[in-house]
Amino acid sequence: MKRNSYYSLISILIIVILLVFIFAGETLGLFLTPTIDNESVSADENLITVGISQLGSESVWRSANTESIQKSLSRENGYFAIFSNARQKQDNQIKAIRNYISQGVDYIVFSPVMEDGWESVLTEAKEAKIPVILMDRTVNVSDDTLYVTHVGSDMKEEGIKAGKWLESYLKNRTFEDDTVNIVILKGTRGSTAEIGRSNGFHEISRNHPEWKILEEVDADFTTAKAREEMTRMLRKYPRIDVLISQNDDMTFGAIDSFRQAGITTGINGDVTIVSFDACHEALTMVYNGVINVDIECNPIQGEYVSEVIKKLENGETVDKEYFVEEQVFTKENVKEALEKRQY
Ligand code: AHR
Repeated sequence: MKRNSYYSLISILIIVILLVFIFAGETLGLFLTPTIDNESVSADENLITVGISQLGSESVWRSANTESIQKSLSRENGYFAIFSNARQKQDNQIKAIRNYISQGVDYIVFSPVMEDGWESVLTEAKEAKIPVILMDRTVNVSDDTLYVTHVGSDMKEEGIKAGKWLESYLKNRTFEDDTVNIVILKGTRGSTAEIGRSNGFHEISRNHPEWKILEEVDADFTTAKAREEMTRMLRKYPRIDVLISQNDDMTFGAIDSFRQAGITTGINGDVTIVSFDACHEALTMVYNGVINVDIECNPIQGEYVSEVIKKLENGETVDKEYFVEEQVFTKENVKEALEKRQY
């Protein structure tokens, strides 16, 4: 083959490979941030148009929350929903919300990745007269008319439940030096789930001088980060008695590290584990005695959001806050919930 034809062939091959790569990337959502999964706003005036900005897909809980909102705001239920995933970046959420404003959606539903930094974009939504519904987490704004309502969990109450459970569990137990060594794996810094669970837990822990909090570390609600942080803490602290892990995904990572280090967890184990979320895999571990307690955070919030929208459509007033129902699961009461759990 002549040198020129050889180079042309190589160039064509490179272009083909690049095109395949770009096409696959778009399909898998690797390049576009934020991804807008549906077509642009519907011309069908009978449907209620909703722009949804989900904060990411960091946990099992999050996937269940996404499924819940997509199922509730379906075409069959009278909605045209446009979905975007911000991949844990506030900038992506702001872009998505601006996009929804310029498309003129009827409502915006969004789960804020963190509490601060929403004033400007929510003011833009208010000026465009688009009602904003907060789902799961909330925002810290000086003017609460910037959103209509918040549908989610009482995160502070979850933290209090964790503290109270630990308080009663430790009552008749004795520890070396009379101190209980505690480490805390925290979720995304500045998020409602992290702030609420930390504040709630500390409301109880501050009454217990014998609870020694060795470290509180950000593991971003992910298994990988938690595994890394727990492995590091196991090298640093010779004795850890209790792990408070602010979600199940981080608990899985921590359990991997404990196992690697030959440390047992749960009922009769070396380390007592308090987890949050109560997804199926974690509840199985509660049932098997590997996790002591799981404080439920209920992701099934789509129906509540839909109810709020329907009320607003009928001109009814809505409350400023709707909390979903949640329980505390231990080996004693987990069986029934485990059988029904879908996520
Ligand atoms: O905001 C809810 C929290 O976010 C859940 O506990 C966690 O799993 C998720 O990532």
